[in-house]
Parts: sequence; structure tokens; C-alpha cells
Amino acid sequence: MLRKEQNDLLTQTGPDTTMGRMFRCYWIPALIADELPEDECPPVRVKLLSERLLAFRDTQGRYGLIDEFCAHRGVSLWFGRNEENGLRCPYHGWKYDVTGQCVEVPSEPVESGFCKKIKLKSYPLVKRGPVLWAYMGPPDQQPPLPEYEFASVPPEQCFITKRVQECNWLQAMEGGIDSSHVSWLHRGDLAHDPLFKGAKGNQYNLGDSRPVFEVVESPGGLYIGARRNAENGQYYWRITPWVMPSFTMIAPRGNHSVHGHFWIPIDDDNCWAWSFDYHPIRQLTASEVQAMREGKGIHVKYVPGTFRPLANKDNDYLIDRAAQKAGRTYSGVDGIAMQDASLQESMGPVVDRTKENLVNTDNGIIMARHRLIRAAKALMEKGVMPPGIDPEHQKVRSVAIVLPADVPYKEGAKEALKAKPGVAPASV
Ligand code: FES
Ligand SMILES: [Fe+2]
Repeated sequence: MLRKEQNDLLTQTGPDTTMGRMFRCYWIPALIADELPEDECPPVRVKLLSERLLAFRDTQGRYGLIDEFCAHRGVSLWFGRNEENGLRCPYHGWKYDVTGQCVEVPSEPVESGFCKKIKLKSYPLVKRGPVLWAYMGPPDQQPPLPEYEFASVPPEQCFITKRVQECNWLQAMEGGIDSSHVSWLHRGDLAHDPLFKGAKGNQYNLGDSRPVFEVVESPGGLYIGARRNAENGQYYWRITPWVMPSFTMIAPRGNHSVHGHFWIPIDDDNCWAWSFDYHPIRQLTASEVQAMREGKGIHVKYVPGTFRPLANKDNDYLIDRAAQKAGRTYSGVDGIAMQDASLQESMGPVVDRTKENLVNTDNGIIMARHRLIRAAKALMEKGVMPPGIDPEHQKVRSVAIVLPADVPYKEGAKEALKAKPGVAPASV
């Protein structure tokens, strides 16, 4: 349970909010690189942390992320003409470069230097792996570029999507670190989804629906270990790393690809659920990629031309009561991502955490909230940079492993929790 002011602190990320300041310490995923596929392609509207922005790629391939609205009289530059190293407002022809600098005001004499005085807000936008990352914080505190493993492997080894989720970022992220729900909500999918089925670990998952959680601090956030019984008195551990502010990885299954999420606020009532699949040492197969494109695993089918899931709250997520009754899906909603999203959205845009009743399996969530609050206070009161900015903190992996009962996972899985190029993931 949280007090109202704690809930507000964690869920509000606009400019001039505490958590908003925290998010602005990090590089955050802003666009899939393919959204700006070529020089002078159409610009893309991007809303992040409650700011309305516009991303574009200029004649020389430079990326820009600038205020969406023209400094003249506020027209959306989404209508702009992307030409000759800048974006030109179609209303009266003012033109801006990728830094937001106004470079032309056709109605004013060039000698007046008027346009030099006009500059739109802008943020760095950089390609790393399949993602364009934005940094929205103070320029003098810009951290090194992110080093998450999914963004570092060769392109054939990674597949990434994003979808709009119609609830606050924290609600979505809390689902990502709550692996106790897997034995319930996703139980049908462990057996059938092509990106999950067949792993030995699935049997442990289904055989023990009362996991014991052990949560320990990591340099960048937490390791959230869920322990289930395996044979011969051993334990099956599923370990989720959480790197602040909102990166999570799901424990792998067999030789399937490894997957995870980034939860990025669009505004306080909506977030981007980024979903990636990668394999540290092999290419994804054509059938895996095909399944992901079809919305299997943690991916979804879309309303064509949008990032909104085809199953959404306006159509009750296409719930199938017969499938629910027959146990083909546990909740009646199809697909792991929408099973999660439907329930998380059902809590309302920002759930009232003063009313919840937490239990032992919520320990990961409790510790993550405390760590976020602690880091936010240290940042605001003492200027201490939060965990997860250092690229070393980002080189983590999720782990699925069977260990003897007397070996703490922090020891037994110590090496497996580190992302090491060329080394196979620890997966059962
Ligand atoms: S509103 Fe953009 S040039 Fe006038
Ligand atoms: Fe889930």
C-alpha cells in the first residue's frame, strides 16, 4: 500500500514532477528506428513524459526530436515539409533544423537575423540497435548511450515492437516484475505459444503455483527471484532483473529467445509497452520472427496503421468466454501481452494504491517502489544520479535455473545474471 502522495510521486512524469525529473536522467526508447526509414521521410509525432514532440530525419540522415508546434503561431509541424536539411512549416514557411533552431523566416529580411532568435525545444535522438533513444534531461548531465544487450546484438538476433497501453507506466511495469501471475493468467500459453512451449521449466511453473519470492538489490535496481519446487529437493528459479527506471526481462524458457520490456510514460494515463525478443548467441529463425509478427509471445496484432492493439478496451479485448470456461486461455483473452494489458488497463488509468492489499508475492513490487522513491528523493534533495544510468548496470540477463536448495540464487546465478557477448543464456 502507498500513501496518496507516494502514488502521485511515482505515477506523475510530466515536466517539473519528481518522477519526471528521474525519467529525464536516462536515455529512453522513443521510436523504432524503422519509423524514420530514410532521409527526408515524413516526420512522426511522439508524445513522451507528457511532452508533445516531433521526430524527423533530415537530408543528411541526422535525427531530430523537437517541439511539435511551430514557434510562429503554433501549427503542428507534423504537417511540415521535410526538405533541404530542415522541416518547413507549411503555414508561412518558417523552417527548423534538427536542433530546433529556426533557420528561415521567409517574411523577414535575412539581414535582420530574426530567425536566429527563434529556437524550439529539442532533445538528442540517437540510434542504438533497432531503437531511436531520446534524452530529455539537462544537456550537461547527458549519460553515455545505453548498453542493453538486446540493442547491442547483431540485428538478425533481435526483434522489437511497441504498443500503446492505456494505463500509467508503473501499473504496466509492476506486471512485468510480478512473475507470480504467470502460473495463473498465462498458464494456457505456456503449453501452446510457439515462443514458450516445450521448455522443461514450464512444468515447474505449472507444478507449483505458490512461488516464494526473494528480492535482492542489484547495482541498477533489483533481481526478483521466484522460487518453485523442482525434483530431488532442488529449486527452479526464475530471475527477473529490473533496471531503473523501467527495464525488465522475463526469465527465459529452453532455447527460446529471451524477452523483456521497457515501460515508458506517454503521459500519466498511457504508456508505451516496448517488447523485445533476442537471442544472445543465435539468429532468430524465420518461424520465430513470423510468430512474433503475428502477435505471439509478448507481441500483439495491431489496428492497421497504428500501435494500438487490435484487441483493446473498446472491444472488451475480444474476450472469449468459451475459451475461458474450457481453459484454453485462463482469462478468456488471447495472447500473453493482451492478457496482461487487459487486466492492467482494467484497474483504471492510475490505480489507487492506497486501497490495495499486498501479499508476499508482491515483494518485488514493494521493493521497486521503495527503490524508486529513495532514488527520486536523493536526486531531488542531493543531486545524486539514480541507479541504472551507468551502462554497466544495464548489462544484465534474466535467468531460469535449477539450483540445490542450499545455494542462494544470488551466488548460484551470479555469472548467469551478467550479459556477456557470445555466452549462451542460462535457461531451463
Ligand atoms: S504557424 Fe508555422 S510558419 Fe506560421
Ligand atoms: Fe504477464
